[in-house]
Amino acid sequence: MDYVFDFLLICHLLALAVAAATTVALPVVMRRIAATAENRPSLGAIAGQLSLNSRIGLGVLVVTGVLMIWVRYGGVDGLNVWFTVKMALVVLMILVLIATAVARGRINPQLSGWITRLTLVGIVISAVLAFN
Ligand code: HEM
Repeated sequence: MDYVFDFLLICHLLALAVAAATTVALPVVMRRIAATAENRPSLGAIAGQLSLNSRIGLGVLVVTGVLMIWVRYGGVDGLNVWFTVKMALVVLMILVLIATAVARGRINPQLSGWITRLTLVGIVISAVLAFN
């Protein structure tokens, strides 16, 4: 069963790499879109691809995370408060993604970008404190 857990953790960390790379790259592309009109179509396509990547990354993080809890811990009983903090931040990140998608352009991208990045840092810190 350990090989299964190891495989899930590898997928979890690869998905984290995709999500983290997107939270750095997307704001850069969005700033360029705001600044230059002529490159808007091509940069818009790149921004769309990056948003899709981040949504897939987050989806893989949640699915592999739930499976790891099931495979190794058999449930959330006995997990410490840092796990609760991590889950609360994951929910916050999902809510920000949904709000950004629903409110199309009405939420300042800089604000949502910073909330997402800071939340990601908080999730990584609480993950390390929860499981080590
Ligand atoms: C944005 C979402 C998430 C991020 C950035 C994230 C990040 C991480 C990181 C960095 C680790 C490695 C920690 C370490 O081994 O020290 C980890 C491990 C883990 N995460 Fe997540 N995670 C996310 C979502 C989730 C979710 C939703 C769950 C469960 C419902 C979950 C459950 C786990 C488990 C079970 C481990 C491995 C614990 C162990 O090594 O025994 N994660 N996560």
